[in-house]
Amino acid sequence: MRVGVLTGGGDCPGLNAVIRGVVRRGVQEYGYEFVGFRDGWKGPLEGLTMELGIEQVRGILPRGGTILGSSRTNLVKIDGGIERTEENLRKMGIDALVAIGGEDTLGVATTLTEHGFHVIGVPKTIDNDLSATDYTFGFDTAVQIATEAIDRLHTTAESHHRILICEVMGRHAGWIALHSGMAGGANAILIPEVEFDLDEVVGWVESRFKASYAPIIVVAEGALPKGGTLVTKDATLDSFGHVKLSGIGEWLAQQVEERTGYEARTTVLGHIQRGGTPTSFDRVLATRFGLNAITAVKDEAWGTMVALQGTDIVRVPLQAATEKLKTVPIERYNEAKSFFG
Ligand code: F6P
Repeated sequence: MRVGVLTGGGDCPGLNAVIRGVVRRGVQEYGYEFVGFRDGWKGPLEGLTMELGIEQVRGILPRGGTILGSSRTNLVKIDGGIERTEENLRKMGIDALVAIGGEDTLGVATTLTEHGFHVIGVPKTIDNDLSATDYTFGFDTAVQIATEAIDRLHTTAESHHRILICEVMGRHAGWIALHSGMAGGANAILIPEVEFDLDEVVGWVESRFKASYAPIIVVAEGALPKGGTLVTKDATLDSFGHVKLSGIGEWLAQQVEERTGYEARTTVLGHIQRGGTPTSFDRVLATRFGLNAITAVKDEAWGTMVALQGTDIVRVPLQAATEKLKTVPIERYNEAKSFFG
C-alpha cells in the first residue's frame, strides 16, 4: 500500500504529531510506503512531494507547524482541479490519502471521496469548531497560550487602571475566547455566536473599576456588536472565500475609552496562538488521531474521519465533520456570564 499524506489550511500545533503517528504505525506495523504531499492540496495538484518515512518523522513530535507545509489551495475552485489531482495520484501509484485539515481541507476530501478516491480525514483546527469530534488538536495549545497572555495582562491593567482587551482567533466560533476567558478570569467575553451590546459591555467595565479591579475583555476576531458588521483587515478573500479578520479589538478599545474615560488598549494574539510546541494534551490527541487514521486506511474505511468522542477515538463519515460548524451553545456562554462585570 502506498499512502499519501497532506496537511491543509492554517497550521496548528500537533500536525507533526499526527504525521508521526500515521507513519510510525504505517511503516512498522503495516509495512506501508508513504509519500508526503507539500503545501496542502497544492501538493497532489502540482505533483509536489517529499520523502516521508521513519527518518523524516524522527524528533518532530514536539515541533509546531507542519513538516509538509500547508496552503489554502481549493481544488474545487480550480478548473479541472479535482480531475488533475486524481490523475496525478493515479500516476504516482497512490492507493490512499490521509488528509489532515479543517472544514475547508476536509470539504475537498469529501469531494474526492465522492469521485471514488480513497481518503481518510483527520480533524485539525485551533478553533475547535468541527462537528462530530469533541475536540480538535491544537485547541488546547491555543487556549493555554491565550490564558497565559490574559494572566499577564491582568497585572498591567491593575497597575495602570486601564481596560485591556485581548483579541483571540475564532472566525465563526468563540471556543478559544470562551475557554481562555474563563480560565483567565476575564471581565467580559465576546464571541461570534452572540452579538454584544456595547452599553452592556461599558456597564461591565464600569462595575469592575468600582470594585477596584481593572477589566480584561476577551474578544474573538469574529465577534459582532449588535447591528454592526464584521471588522476585517482588508477586502481580499482567500480561495475558500474567507475574509482576513482582525480589528474588532481596536474598534472596541476606542468605543469603551470614549464612553468610560478610562484608557483602553488592545493586544491581538494572532498567529502566536497557532505557533510553537503543542501541549501534552494535544500531543496525545494528535498521536492517537494519527495511529487511528492509518488503521482506518488498513480497514479500508474510506470517506471517514477519525474523531474524539468522550475518551474514545471513533470513525465518522467525512461529511459529518463539515456539514455544520460546532459553535458555542448559549448555555455554555451563559455559564461564563456569571463572572462578567
Ligand atoms: O481556522 C483557523 C484560523 O486560525 C482562524 O481562527 C483564523 O481566522 C484563520 O485561521 C486565520 O488564517 P490565516 O492564518 O490564513 O490568516
